[in-house]
Amino acid sequence: MSRILLIFLAITLVCSVREANTQQTVDEICKQTIDIKFCNGILAKATSPSVNDLLNVTVTEAHKILDDSYFFISSLLLHSGNQRPFVEKCADGYAIMNSLFTNSVSLFNSGQYAEITSRLSGISSADEECKTDFNVPGYNINPMTEKNRETNVLLALEKILGHMVSS
Ligand SMILES: *[C@@H]1O[C@H](CO)[C@@H](O)[C@H](O)[C@H]1NC(C)=O
Repeated sequence: MSRILLIFLAITLVCSVREANTQQTVDEICKQTIDIKFCNGILAKATSPSVNDLLNVTVTEAHKILDDSYFFISSLLLHSGNQRPFVEKCADGYAIMNSLFTNSVSLFNSGQYAEITSRLSGISSADEECKTDFNVPGYNINPMTEKNRETNVLLALEKILGHMVSS
């Protein structure tokens, strides 16, 4: 009876240590990004805590989110009026970033993990690709500020995880 209890306790302990390590790994990674909550939300969708699966979920989610953001800025461009040159610059930036994140999915699928990090290394911040100093009717704060923050987290995640998986 006591031996069974001991085995049960041992299993519980091993499991909880593993859980703690998983959350610890995720926390360590997310601490290196500018939005821990958003970062946690992405990584929580992983099917397992292996670094490979964390990278898999990141490239998959990043591709979806960037597609949406690019669609969003493209539709803002249609109604940009006198702000057009500024909105167009931001849209061009998102076109580039969207294609890079699409590329990450193919690179992941062909196992070229280090290549994910190196292709993204040319982008240091979404704020440089898309300056948010234009007005968007109906918004007090430029909605691309939020999109840039998300993109920055996704950039950091792909760079960090691409490096971890390949080293
Ligand atoms: C990546 O994730 C998708 C969806 O969960 C899964 O179907 C695929 O097998 C994964 N790929 C690898 C290499 O782990």
